[in-house]
Amino acid sequence: MTDEPTRAPEARPVPGPGTEPGTGPGTAPDGRTLEVVLRPLVRADLDALVTMERDLFGAGAWSRASLAEELDGPGRWYVGAQDAAGDLVGYAGLWFDGEDAQVMTVGTRPDAQGRGVGRMLLDALLDHARDLGAGDVLLEVRVDNEPALRLYERAGFERFGRRKGYYQPENVDAWTMRRRVAPPA
Ligand SMILES: CC(C)(COP(=O)(O)OP(=O)(O)OC[C@H]1O[C@@H](n2cnc3c(N)ncnc32)[C@H](O)[C@@H]1OP(=O)(O)O)[C@@H](O)C(=O)NCCC(=O)NCCS
Repeated sequence: MTDEPTRAPEARPVPGPGTEPGTGPGTAPDGRTLEVVLRPLVRADLDALVTMERDLFGAGAWSRASLAEELDGPGRWYVGAQDAAGDLVGYAGLWFDGEDAQVMTVGTRPDAQGRGVGRMLLDALLDHARDLGAGDVLLEVRVDNEPALRLYERAGFERFGRRKGYYQPENVDAWTMRRRVAPPA
């Protein structure tokens, strides 16, 4: 596992519900839609992932090596959103430790944001975590990341703690958030 922090800190890609071609389109609240299909990420996606990482996370971007490690990591499941032209416009990853699942990252290419892609990716992670039998889905998110906070809160995540200086070297705190996915006993 990479020692970089999760963002919300990485699969052997395994096809699962909601990841088959034909899933989509993502629908934005204002009705603008982006036609995307979800599919497992593979090593051939690394070039596109590295570019999106740099654009979305700047100095905090995971390196190519970290991304490659994540795609192959134990318990990891990474999914991408592909547009009609066949380009990746978003990606997200989950880590299941046998009990709970952790959102490792979610990102939408800047020109595709606000059109439902992030929510679609997050919903795929939640569905997959539920299928794996996870109890909770956990994540960390920068306290100043309003778009991500809104995405997570709209998807039913609740804040339950704050980690001081979690993001370094920026020295920014993280909210820890969780959402129950296991069916009631
Ligand atoms: C966070 C992120 C993944 C959202 O992706 P997206 O494809 O734009 O999200 P969606 O279009 O599915 O929108 C989901 C919700 O987030 C809200 N949202 C999206 N962008 C927003 C913004 N700039 N400001 C406020 N809310 C925003 C949407 O309004 C929507 O909520 P709503 O249903 O109440 O309207 C995207 O902004 C991103 O890639 N950011 C940079 C990377 C990042 O910070 N990832 C999270 C790491 S923890």
